[in-house]
Amino acid sequence: MDFLALSQQRYTTKHYDGNRKISQEHIDMLLEILRLTPSAVNIQPWHFYVGSSDAAKNLIRPCVLDFNHARLDGCSHFIVLCAKTSVSDEEFSAITKKEDADGRYSKAEVKNSVDEHRRYFADMHVKMGDFNEWTAKQTYLAMAALLYGAASLGIDSTPIEGMDYEKCDEILKLKEKSLRSVGIVTLGYRAKDDSNAKRPKSRLDKESIISFLE
Ligand SMILES: Cc1cc2nc3c(=O)[nH]c(=O)nc-3n(C[C@H](O)[C@H](O)[C@H](O)COP(=O)(O)O)c2cc1C
Repeated sequence: MDFLALSQQRYTTKHYDGNRKISQEHIDMLLEILRLTPSAVNIQPWHFYVGSSDAAKNLIRPCVLDFNHARLDGCSHFIVLCAKTSVSDEEFSAITKKEDADGRYSKAEVKNSVDEHRRYFADMHVKMGDFNEWTAKQTYLAMAALLYGAASLGIDSTPIEGMDYEKCDEILKLKEKSLRSVGIVTLGYRAKDDSNAKRPKSRLDKESIISFLE
């Protein structure tokens, strides 16, 4: 299916078939899609918590607002998307080391300059006071990749912002890990009577959101 057809067909699932589980093969593919998400200066400022068991669902339920409980209860898997609130010296070095190991650099000077550039760019956002916003934006790209990646595998999903972020950070002890939660995506297969499945998609007309510059 081409990307346009995927965009036309994917939708936000409200009720899942609680008896269907996503295969491990598909979960592994989705996690690889998350891992491959692009980010500014390849900073990869995120961490993803994956859950599937009843115990894992119970753990995060207190941070999911009531109106979203049905998405969590019936889903096969959920993923809490977290963004970094700071990047340590070791973490910067680990990114550059991995890029080197993956064969990105033929010369040490290029490696050093990319490393410096990455640190400079991140520090610029610290100084501008928007570091958390910047890392959250990158993490939302991962969310989008996950939604469309899931749809490409015939997996339904729900992006969730209807949550208590502070509570989530507390439950997953994110502050101590220099992380904060930015959203949850539940994944699974739609219930037969999912109210949203038959609702036509609605978006503003392109004339109102797209302008061509001449
Ligand atoms: C960032 C984001 C957060 C959202 N949060 C919720 C949510 O908490 N609960 C929910 O049921 N839907 C949530 N939605 C789904 C939107 O309401 C839905 O995407 C929108 O109405 C368009 O419908 P569609 O996804 O079916 O095309 C969220 C969507 C996005 C992109």
